[in-house]
Amino acid sequence: MTDKVPPARVVRLVENVRSQLTRLSRRMAPAPAQMLELLLGTWVSQAIQVASALGIADALADGPLPAATLAERVGADPDGVNRLMRALVSRGVFRRHRDGRYGLNALGETLRTDSAVSMRGAGLFYGSRQQREHWTHLLDAVTTGKPVVESLRGKEFFEYLGEDPEFAELFNNAMTSISEFAVQPVVAGYDFSRYPTIVDVGGGHGRLLAAILAATPTARGVLYDMPEVVADAPKLLAEFGLTDRVEVQGGSFFESVPGGGDAYVMKHIIHDWADEQALTILRNVRAAIKPGATLLLLEFVIPDHDGDFIGKWVDLEMLVVAGGRERTTEQYRELLAQAGFRLTGVVETASPISVVEAIPV
Ligand SMILES: C[S@@+](CC[C@H](N)C(=O)[O-])C[C@H]1O[C@@H](n2cnc3c(N)ncnc32)[C@H](O)[C@@H]1O
Repeated sequence: MTDKVPPARVVRLVENVRSQLTRLSRRMAPAPAQMLELLLGTWVSQAIQVASALGIADALADGPLPAATLAERVGADPDGVNRLMRALVSRGVFRRHRDGRYGLNALGETLRTDSAVSMRGAGLFYGSRQQREHWTHLLDAVTTGKPVVESLRGKEFFEYLGEDPEFAELFNNAMTSISEFAVQPVVAGYDFSRYPTIVDVGGGHGRLLAAILAATPTARGVLYDMPEVVADAPKLLAEFGLTDRVEVQGGSFFESVPGGGDAYVMKHIIHDWADEQALTILRNVRAAIKPGATLLLLEFVIPDHDGDFIGKWVDLEMLVVAGGRERTTEQYRELLAQAGFRLTGVVETASPISVVEAIPV
C-alpha cells in the first residue's frame, strides 16, 4: 500500500487546487447562503455519527437495500432512516440507486467497520454525547483560554478518560481509526529503516508502530502508553504478527520514558499539552534518550498560509478538550530547545502530518 502514496509535493499541489476550487464554488452563492451552509456543518456531522452508530454502512456491505429493509436491519424507524439517508446522499455520503435502494459509495465505504481505512471510529467519537458537550463550551474555552473538560468533568481529559471506560474506548478507537488513515503516508514519507530500536511514546494500541515495523523488517519496537491503554495493544500487535518484535510497557510519560531507543516517535502527543506539560514530557524523553538517537514528533505543523489545513481545526479541539495546541515550526524549535533538543528538520508527508526531527544537545 505504501507505494501507492503520492509524493508530498504532488499532494500539496492538489490541496492547493482544491482550496481554490472550494473558494470559487463558495463565491458562486450569496454570502448568507454560504454562511448558513457552514453553520449547518454540525448537522451533517451529527447525521454521519448516527449512521455510524446504527451501523448503516455495515448493513449495506452486501449490496443496496430499500429504506424499509435497511431500517429493519439496523433496528430503526423506516421513515427516520429514509430521511437520514436522503440528507446524507445530498452531501455525497451513500448513494441512491434509480430503483430507490440505498447503497455504498466511496464515502459510505469509509463508515464500514472493516473497510481498509475506516472512519467509523472517528464518527462515533466526534459525534459522541460527551464530545459534543465539550464543543458546546467552545465559547468558554476561547474566552478563558482554558480547556473546558476540567470545569465540566472535574478532571483533565486523560484522567476523565481513565474513569469513563465507554468514552475511553470511543477515543482510543477513534485514534486507531485516524492513525489508520495517516500511517501509510507517514511510513512512505519518512525513512525509519536507520533506527534499529523505535520507541513509540504515547503509542496507543500500537497502530503506527505496527506500520513502521512492517516497513522496516529488521527494527524492533517498544510501545509505551498508560497501562490501561497498552492493555489492549497485544491483540493488535498479534494481528500484525509483531508480538515478538514489540515490547509493551505501561507507564506515564510525566514520570519517565523507556530508555534504549534509537528513535523516539511521538505522534500527536505534544499537541495535547500546553507548553509547561509538553516540556515535562520532552525533558523526560531527553533524560532517557542516548546520544546519537533521534526524537521524531509527528504533528500537524501549522503552515504559514491562510488556506484550509486540518491542523487549524484540531488546534481548536486541543483548546477545548486538552488545553494543548498545534504549533508552527518556530514554536516547535523553541519548545525543543528548552527541553535540550535541537530541531534538525521538518519532513512533510502526503498526509497533513509532518515529521519534526530533533536530536539531543
Ligand atoms: C492523541 S492520542 C495519540 C495516540 C497515538 N500516538 C496516535 O497518534 O494514534 C494521545 C495518547 O497519549 C496517551 N497518554 C496520555 N497521557 C499519558 C501519560 N501520562 N503517559 C503515557 N501516555 C499518555 C493517551 O493514552 C493516548 O494514547
